[in-house]
Amino acid sequence: MFKNLTRSVRGLTSRALTHYNYATSSSSSSSGSGSGSSSSSGSATNSTGDQFVAVTKATEGWLQKLQDAGVPDTEFNVKCIVSHVLKRKFNTVPDNFAQLQFDAQQLADFERFLEARCARMPLQHIIGEWDFLDITLKTAPTVFIPRPETEEFVRLVIESYKHAKHVNMLEVGCGSGAMSLSMLHALPQVEATAIERSKAATVLAVENAKLLGLQHRFQVHNHTMVADQYMPEPLKEKKYDLIISNPPYVKTDEFQFLHPEVVVYENLNALDGGSDGLRVARVVFDLACRHLHSGGKLWLELGNEHPPMVKTIMHLKYEGRLNFVGSYCDQYKRERFVQIEKV
Ligand SMILES: C[S@@+](CC[C@H](N)C(=O)[O-])C[C@H]1O[C@@H](n2cnc3c(N)ncnc32)[C@H](O)[C@@H]1O
Repeated sequence: MFKNLTRSVRGLTSRALTHYNYATSSSSSSSGSGSGSSSSSGSATNSTGDQFVAVTKATEGWLQKLQDAGVPDTEFNVKCIVSHVLKRKFNTVPDNFAQLQFDAQQLADFERFLEARCARMPLQHIIGEWDFLDITLKTAPTVFIPRPETEEFVRLVIESYKHAKHVNMLEVGCGSGAMSLSMLHALPQVEATAIERSKAATVLAVENAKLLGLQHRFQVHNHTMVADQYMPEPLKEKKYDLIISNPPYVKTDEFQFLHPEVVVYENLNALDGGSDGLRVARVVFDLACRHLHSGGKLWLELGNEHPPMVKTIMHLKYEGRLNFVGSYCDQYKRERFVQIEKV
């Protein structure tokens, strides 16, 4: 619904900056873009006596309120919420909202959603779904909202596997399923298994797989990977061609810089990477040693200071087991993604 509208991010802590929002709409079933004529006050009544208000009138004052609440990209936020309330695609809604009207229920929903946004509820949670590459994913409270830089990461991995014959892939920490499901959508030769510590995320990933018709190539296990219990019982002997992960990598002392959308609405288990940001990644390295086939690859999305650290860790601790293949930049030329090979 909101394809290609996610905004760029500029740094580890600012991955919070672009990520708006929470919960699905209960907006009314009326189309609301109806043709009842507005009076100069912006309100109108149609032939059946329903009250309508011009969207231009309804939006008055909200840009300022959002700005006062510290919400970035205020016009984008208002337009997303207008599109959502009217159940129209973002790109079909004119920027000046000309000719658009809300009925009474839509107006109430619009105001409720904007109040929530002023309370810094992420836009994705207000809208209840978000586009990621070529798929649309449901969002849910406490489940990590997929980020635009992760789209870049997945594009790289897809590119790298597009000519592969069959790929048995594992994802560590799948959240909503964004990475695995977009891989499955793009590459029919991939089969994916995911482990995920959050029950809510596990349920949501399964639901998203079903909504996308990808459930036959995707399984999720609600499991917390820890040293010596890397995998759930049924997967203990399994080996994979590819492991992907966007592990929690925010340094604990950077939490003070995160935006309210993240601190209040995200599950901190999805973000907290410990003192150097690599607490969970280090466990993934050990898991990869045990569960990758020889020649198999581990791809990780990390913070921009991490790739050189990972290179050193590979050299010092994993020599003969894992090789650092390379690191890759995001569109802002920040080194963010790493590829590692199992010897
Ligand atoms: C940064 S989020 C990424 C989610 C998803 N891959 C994405 O990119 O949108 C990290 C995810 O890893 C999960 N996670 C964190 N630690 C984990 C662990 N030890 N075992 C399994 N999952 C874990 C979190 O619950 C969260 O869903």
